[in-house]
Amino acid sequence: MKDHDLSFDEFDEINSPRPEESDFDRIVESAISRRGFLSVLAVGTASFLTSTSVLSGRADAATDRFGFNQVAATLDDTITIPDGFTSSPVVNWGDPLWSSSPEFDWSVRGTADQQKMAFGDNNDGMTVFAIGDRTVLVINQEYTNRDIANAHRESKLAETDDDVLKGMLAHGVTVVEIAEADDGTWGVVKDSPFNRRITPQTEMEITGPAAGHDLLKTPADPTGTKTLGTWNNCANGETPWGTYLACEENFNGYFRSADKEMEVPAALKRYGVGVDDWGYSWAQIDDRFDISKTPNEPNRAGYVVEIDPTDPNSTPKKRTALGRFKHENAEVVVNRDGRIVVYMGDDERGEFLYRYVSNGVYSAGGSTDDLLVDGKLYAAVFSDDGRGKWAELSEAATGMSKAEIAVHSRQAGSKVGATTMDRPEWVTSNPNKAEVYVALTNNKNRGIKPNKGGDATPVGGPNPREGNKYGQIVRWMPDDEDHAAEGFDWNIFVLAGNPAVHSDDRAGSPNVNAENMFNSPDGIGFDSRGILWIQTDGNYKDKDDFEGHGNNQMLAADTETGEIRRFLVGPVSCEVTGLAWSPDRKTMFVGVQHPGEKGFESHWPLGGDSVPRSGVVAIKRTDGGLMG
Ligand code: FEO
Ligand code: CA
Ligand code: CA
Repeated sequence: MKDHDLSFDEFDEINSPRPEESDFDRIVESAISRRGFLSVLAVGTASFLTSTSVLSGRADAATDRFGFNQVAATLDDTITIPDGFTSSPVVNWGDPLWSSSPEFDWSVRGTADQQKMAFGDNNDGMTVFAIGDRTVLVINQEYTNRDIANAHRESKLAETDDDVLKGMLAHGVTVVEIAEADDGTWGVVKDSPFNRRITPQTEMEITGPAAGHDLLKTPADPTGTKTLGTWNNCANGETPWGTYLACEENFNGYFRSADKEMEVPAALKRYGVGVDDWGYSWAQIDDRFDISKTPNEPNRAGYVVEIDPTDPNSTPKKRTALGRFKHENAEVVVNRDGRIVVYMGDDERGEFLYRYVSNGVYSAGGSTDDLLVDGKLYAAVFSDDGRGKWAELSEAATGMSKAEIAVHSRQAGSKVGATTMDRPEWVTSNPNKAEVYVALTNNKNRGIKPNKGGDATPVGGPNPREGNKYGQIVRWMPDDEDHAAEGFDWNIFVLAGNPAVHSDDRAGSPNVNAENMFNSPDGIGFDSRGILWIQTDGNYKDKDDFEGHGNNQMLAADTETGEIRRFLVGPVSCEVTGLAWSPDRKTMFVGVQHPGEKGFESHWPLGGDSVPRSGVVAIKRTDGGLMG
């Protein structure tokens, strides 16, 4: 396809300088004399921007706040965007990160050795960091589709240990420098000293209330403070001190038991851990994924992991103070009093929305060591009258120790009567006001049955529809514009639906119509103008309840007027997830995950009969204007 005429090798030839390993210290020293200096800027979020930079982002000369005409829903196997915009690939599953990386052998969908040195699979949340004059993309590699990754095998039963290891190494996080070529396309800077693969085998430190607790001790780590790896990293966050937050979501699906008669403890069942894994078979090559041998290993996953993108030798830190659940993203806000507030969803039917508030305050250049270690955790309790409150998961309220609250956060949430939600996905904070949004993607069980091991899921409040197939976006306004306040007001920004098929509450809210309809909002984020971007991970069959929705998509919303416009439609059976901006904001990076999943035929991005490959695209305005 046209966008891919330039291979990444050719791109590298003509593109940015590739520093020698020995240049690394100099680059980092000149960019940031120490982690925490503000010359490391996360570009992917608007939460930390000053009002000046918010205003300077409003350079869009278009006649409305959106600056584009919406595209129609489609089932095309491509990136569909409005006239006046271009899209080009940045990086895809299997792309080598170093010149010594073995090329992927696509006839066998790669090997473990190849995967170890290449961009991983199913990219999800991402942040672009400006490190000095370098542009560094940090991106989650959530999971693998084995029916794609091992499609050369006749049967899943024939998957070899190398297939399993290849899959394992396709998980984790990738740190990769990217650069813009003279023709305006973006690509990987091979051999950049920033390039790094973080995998389920990377050593990590466990910090916070659960560190060293008996619940976290294993034969390999009798201290309960060191663990190997991160996996199923869904969405993300970034801190004002220039670090990346990778959020561990469906960590449970990787554990199984050799003893199928094993009585799985209730505490593990609450997180979905059972005697069977989800097909990944990691226990085949590593005993720590066998709960009959290492029953505490699942307690060492389900956290937010902090990664320093400026130092490829740094040890990632699991932040147990932010709770253990199926983390979606971590939206970090600097409260007006300097405390760090982190909003987080637990993506499971009938689980909760959380808030962390640091005890210490952030100051630029000051110590940030304890800001994600020492603080209070809360879960949201919504009332039907438009009010809500944050219930602290304290020792007194839960009867649990601080370590137990950090490990068994779901159970702590149940004890304080937190509101069961319709699968909380991303949370994002409006850069222009104290107002926070959460995508509640859908919940077929709402009002019908509780989730496994969880609480009842009554219809009402922010979860107003029984058997909710479409999802909604809820927002709340903290009392006194104080993100650490106990109370808040809330309302529903949009109820997704299908007004072409239904005329009851399944039609959605008035800002949904037959032209902009969608289902299952998942990734959400504000740009510097205050436009809310909405990415979907929903039903793409375009039939019955979903007729006219097309493939998964990305929309833009004006949160003042409520207007929503479709900006992008992704390729066949993908999910659109992950968004970030270049330092000059002239490029928007958008993630495309699992094209061709579940047997749907996709050959994105290369076309022909090529293997479908998750990846990131760079979207620009043809007039060179700002992308948000
Ligand atoms: Fe990985 Fe909740 O989406
Ligand atoms: Ca998601
Ligand atoms: Ca999702």
